[in-house]
Amino acid sequence: MISTENLLFAWIGLALITFLYLLRKNAPYGRHQSPGWGPTIPNRMGWIIMEGFVLLVFWAWFWHLGLPQEPQILILCGLFSLHYLHRSFVFPFRLRTQGKTMPLLIMGSAMLFNLVNGSVLGWDLSQTNRETASTWSFGLGFLLFVLGFALNYAADSRLIALRKPGETGYKIPDGPLFRFISCPNLLGEIMEWGGFALMCGSLAGLSFWIWTLANLLPRALAHHRWYRQRFPEYPGERKAIFPFIL
Ligand SMILES: NC(=O)c1ccc[n+]([C@@H]2O[C@H](COP(=O)([O-])OP(=O)(O)OC[C@H]3O[C@@H](n4cnc5c(N)ncnc54)[C@H](OP(=O)(O)O)[C@@H]3O)[C@@H](O)[C@H]2O)c1
Repeated sequence: MISTENLLFAWIGLALITFLYLLRKNAPYGRHQSPGWGPTIPNRMGWIIMEGFVLLVFWAWFWHLGLPQEPQILILCGLFSLHYLHRSFVFPFRLRTQGKTMPLLIMGSAMLFNLVNGSVLGWDLSQTNRETASTWSFGLGFLLFVLGFALNYAADSRLIALRKPGETGYKIPDGPLFRFISCPNLLGEIMEWGGFALMCGSLAGLSFWIWTLANLLPRALAHHRWYRQRFPEYPGERKAIFPFIL
């Protein structure tokens, strides 16, 4: 019989294939959206459906198997829910993207990812006999998660505020968060789920972090290339996602 561990390794292998694909082809939403990707849906609704869905999948495991009472598990469930409650029900209403759409294909593939990822994490955290992270890695992971969440929120807020109400175009992002890199919001998200993986102390948590890297590193490189092509005056010393490195 195939072990759960092998299934998780296969899931991680798929993340690596996705990473290689996304390095060659930009995920077609936001500034990279182009015709030819089939029917579309208003982008705000797309965000709500595709990201709200993972909360249903994740919590279905606890409804089915019961919620373990260890404080570490309760904190992990709380942080996961906090992130996705914000992403599905707050973030979409802050966007200044009147009239924008996203391909149903993007919404569908995000839901497919959320179905597997929400199941992997829900299954992992609902096991009563799982090993928990050491106090050190749990504490360090918590700190990383909180810093990442704050960076992601602050950088997204700055980007959203670049457009005055009613404007639709793009501008060069400025301010301290954008001094060294083009995508501090994506770096914040990578830090969040890296911290979460440390707190989980499990292969399931690690798989989510690897998937986050697979999705967001190519997106940050694509955003960065796009800025350079679009704005000849774009600051030359600015990197894509890791200050001074990439
Ligand atoms: N965990 C994951 O795998 C994952 C995957 C994807 C996204 N996310 C998260 O979802 C959020 C959105 O991601 P994203 O890639 O769509 O972010 P993004 O391209 O940086 O855009 C964020 C918002 O700011 C606007 N914006 C961005 N740059 C702008 C500029 N230069 N001038 C004016 N407006 C600008 C965008 O408008 P437009 O929509 O019109 O471009 C959008 O409304 C991020 O917090 C990201 O971390 C997570």
